[in-house]
Amino acid sequence: MRALLAGTPVIPVITLDLVEDFVPLARALVRGGLKVLEVTLRTPVASEGIRRIRSEVEGAVVGTGTVCTAAQVDLSCDLGCEFMISPGSTEQLLTAAAQAPVPLMPGISTVSELMRGMVHGYQNFKFFPAEAAGGVAVLKAFEGPFPDVRFCPTGGIGPTNFLDYLKLPNVLCVGGSWILPNDLIAARRWQDIERLARQTASVRGIE
Ligand code: 3PG
Repeated sequence: MRALLAGTPVIPVITLDLVEDFVPLARALVRGGLKVLEVTLRTPVASEGIRRIRSEVEGAVVGTGTVCTAAQVDLSCDLGCEFMISPGSTEQLLTAAAQAPVPLMPGISTVSELMRGMVHGYQNFKFFPAEAAGGVAVLKAFEGPFPDVRFCPTGGIGPTNFLDYLKLPNVLCVGGSWILPNDLIAARRWQDIERLARQTASVRGIE
């Protein structure tokens, strides 16, 4: 996961209802410099959307999000995804993903969940829901006992606070949907989303 996420400050979290929106949205994000995309498995069109992005959007690195079951691990592998992200971690999910050829970044919000993930060999976690679970202060506290663990905080992060997270040494990148506001998607304002992505991507000079 670390190699995959190196150089990307933000993972856009994509949840779409209309299958025709996936490709233009992904193109806008990739053109803006955000190439690592999480497509959540929350809508019936998500699988087809992932297929289309993979075949039509050059440069996109696509993973599944909201992966909660072993069946969704299998689906992610069948779709050719490059990574998987889950909001939380169950024994069944951690076990299924440990045998899969695609890396999982499991979600945690407590120390005990983190330790359970480490038992399964995980070192990189989604911290979710980041703001509601204590935000920057909690990640700073995690650093003492778990100096080698890295996080991708997600949930409640936006333009006013994402830099606070990125400054932390144990944060790989942050995830969020603020780069793709619903009103811009509904209006198909892809250039505005590209601009927003470019502003966001430029924080670490990866544009
Ligand atoms: C997720 O789906 O991972 C998060 O809910 C995204 O959170 P956000 O919409 O608050 O950015």
